[in-house]
Amino acid sequence: MKKAKITFDRDFAVSRIDRRIYGSFIEHLGRAVYGGIYEPGSPFADERGFRRDTLELVRELDVPVVRYPGGNFVSGYKWEDGVGPRELRPRRVDLAWGVVESNEVGVNEFSDWAKAAGTDVMMAVNLGTRGVAEAVELLEYCNLPGGTALSDLRRAHGYAQPHGFKLWCLGNEMDGPWQIGHKTAMEYGRLANETAKAMRDLDPSIQLVACGSSGSDMPTFGEWEATVLDQCYDNVDYVSMHRYYGDAERDPRSFLANSVDMDRFITDVASVCDYVKAKKHSKKTVNISFDEWNVWYHSQEQDKKIPRWTRAPHQLEDVYDFQDALLVGSMLITLLRHADRVKIACLAQLVNVIAPIMTSDTGAWRQTIYYPYLLTGKYGRGVALETKVESPTYETKKYGEVPMLDSVAVWNDGAGELAIFAVNRDLEEDLELTADLRQFADMRLLEHVILADEDLYAVNTEARPDRIVPRRYTATAIESGALRTLLPHKSWSMIRLGK
Ligand code: AHR
Repeated sequence: MKKAKITFDRDFAVSRIDRRIYGSFIEHLGRAVYGGIYEPGSPFADERGFRRDTLELVRELDVPVVRYPGGNFVSGYKWEDGVGPRELRPRRVDLAWGVVESNEVGVNEFSDWAKAAGTDVMMAVNLGTRGVAEAVELLEYCNLPGGTALSDLRRAHGYAQPHGFKLWCLGNEMDGPWQIGHKTAMEYGRLANETAKAMRDLDPSIQLVACGSSGSDMPTFGEWEATVLDQCYDNVDYVSMHRYYGDAERDPRSFLANSVDMDRFITDVASVCDYVKAKKHSKKTVNISFDEWNVWYHSQEQDKKIPRWTRAPHQLEDVYDFQDALLVGSMLITLLRHADRVKIACLAQLVNVIAPIMTSDTGAWRQTIYYPYLLTGKYGRGVALETKVESPTYETKKYGEVPMLDSVAVWNDGAGELAIFAVNRDLEEDLELTADLRQFADMRLLEHVILADEDLYAVNTEARPDRIVPRRYTATAIESGALRTLLPHKSWSMIRLGK
């Protein structure tokens, strides 16, 4: 039997975890908004047209923040189209996704929905086809109490109270040639800086996110962050990271190791932030908003067949399998291991579009990736502990030798509980895990919850929504100051200890 060991100590913290790392994302894309969160006329709709079944699951996930309205969509978006009387709102072409946007939901409705879901809004401005003026106007409309043209317009639209959005993205993926209004790093850095300055003049309480690279595989990665931050370092709080993984090659050994790449990506971006900090002799640290991350590849072929200029088609509707849940579990572990630099992260996305929640005419259900997201968000609170992982390795085509075990421990000082998250990535071999408990030795096991299955490609569907669900695992014990368990091959675990 292969053996692995983890060691952590209450006194060695990575950082207190910012709850916003369990954020998500809703874009005007496919059936995320129309059919996902909003569907008037559906038997599930409330009086405002919001789907109650979706709201219930979003509340169960306890999502702290949701990014909106895009994504690629935002780079062609006119926010003014989505406010005021619905019957006067224009239908527009959405060049980003080749569809029609009906504008039935805009910033006010989304704010209503977010309140109902118990989440905050992370708002994005269009820096693709638009610029400083329109970004500031949107901020005025949203955050000023009244007494100016646009804040009074919001009041006239039935929203007497300002929305008070605190977190703003300065555009989306501006490094990507596919982006409407794509820019060079210098062009974008200048625009981001000028927009940030003007927005802060209007509302100094906001936090701003500059666009980093759309992925570590972008040819401009590294240089992009350095140039952009050189321009806007003093006026922004975060730089964004985006990353999606796929397994078109059907190479699960490499696929499950993708969090190794994510880990390096975060380290690299933090290094570039600190390089600019040093260069500028700044005292301020720019942290990371990992505001798009997930698995995305299952739907790519079928999406090519979607006719253009339809409204809310079935787009990016990945059906997630068991191996996707394992990688999502590992990606969450990676975010926690970097809790000192990653302060915001958004699972992209939330409903129907590469999402943990799916809806149809007959209800809503949980995809496989829902569970690691739910349970890490629920129990991964408090302080992320430096977790030394000693593990056997296995060989992958993409990353060479990688550890079988991926793990992190979290001390929830508020609740007096310890949570260990662990993935055994190996496809064949079980792993005997020992955790040196040190100051936690007086704790008892509350539960060990596991996701394990022989079929890597098993999925949850509308017809069979509970094919992959977490279950209680009993082969775990605490003895002589150590926790001992057997992590089955290809499994995700959450082990919780308390008094
Ligand atoms: O989340 C789907 C898309 O992925 C977003 O619109 C874009 O920002 C990214 O490329």
